[in-house]
Amino acid sequence: MKIRILIGLLLGLYSFLFLAEFSFAEYGDIILNSKAESMRKAGVNDVMFPHWFHRIRFKCKVCHEDIFILKAGANDINMSLIMNGEKCGKCHNGIIAWEPLYCERCHSWEPGWSPGVVQYSKKIAK
Ligand code: HEC
Ligand code: HEC
Ligand code: HEC
Repeated sequence: MKIRILIGLLLGLYSFLFLAEFSFAEYGDIILNSKAESMRKAGVNDVMFPHWFHRIRFKCKVCHEDIFILKAGANDINMSLIMNGEKCGKCHNGIIAWEPLYCERCHSWEPGWSPGVVQYSKKIAK
């Protein structure tokens, strides 16, 4: 009897966690393009930040709000900050994750991309 209650509780917990994950599902990948003009000039595409990829690896509080303010477009990110170990560079420093040398890994947005991609930053309309 006690085992059944335990199993019931575990299943309940599991479905709760499952649904909790689902309720965040609309926050998919995030396009960062407030600096679109300078990115165009430098010949790189907009940044497609794979939010989900990071969320399954880190607790929310690792990034929010010590590294990134939890508000669309509120984070003023640029390459010198990243190269100096701030923002994405807190991890993309060759120790926790690869160094910011591989431009196209982050600047990977392609024109016409949309499914599952939420465009948070609309400072510069295309
Ligand atoms: C690796 C760092 C990282 C982790 C971990 C992370 N996020 Fe984020 N999150 C970001 C970045 C970067 C943005 C984009 C902010 C911007 O647009 O300036 C963002 C944006 C968001 C937004 C959008 C805010 C808005 O105004 O629409 C929400 C909501 C969010 N995150 C929730 C979460 C939750 C919930 C978790 C944990 C399950 C999480 N994040 C984990 C980096 C992270
Ligand atoms: C809390 C640490 C952390 C922060 C902050 C962070 N990343 Fe990452 N990121 C990682 C790790 C770890 C990986 C996996 C590295 C590996 O596989 O070697 C990764 C992988 C990636 C990938 C590759 C995803 C794939 O499908 O392979 C991209 C793109 C990326 N990060 C972009 C960003 C951008 C853009 C930012 C800033 C907005 C950022 N990251 C901030 C830890 C972080
Ligand atoms: C770890 C992810 C990542 C990598 C790798 C990366 N960038 Fe960026 N880059 C960003 C993010 C995030 C922004 C801010 C985008 C925004 O908010 O509009 C940015 C912004 C920029 C900008 C505009 C702002 C500025 O600082 O001038 C340029 C130009 C740029 N990147 C060029 C490059 C080049 C060239 C490389 C390769 C040497 C590179 N980036 C590699 C994430 C990355």
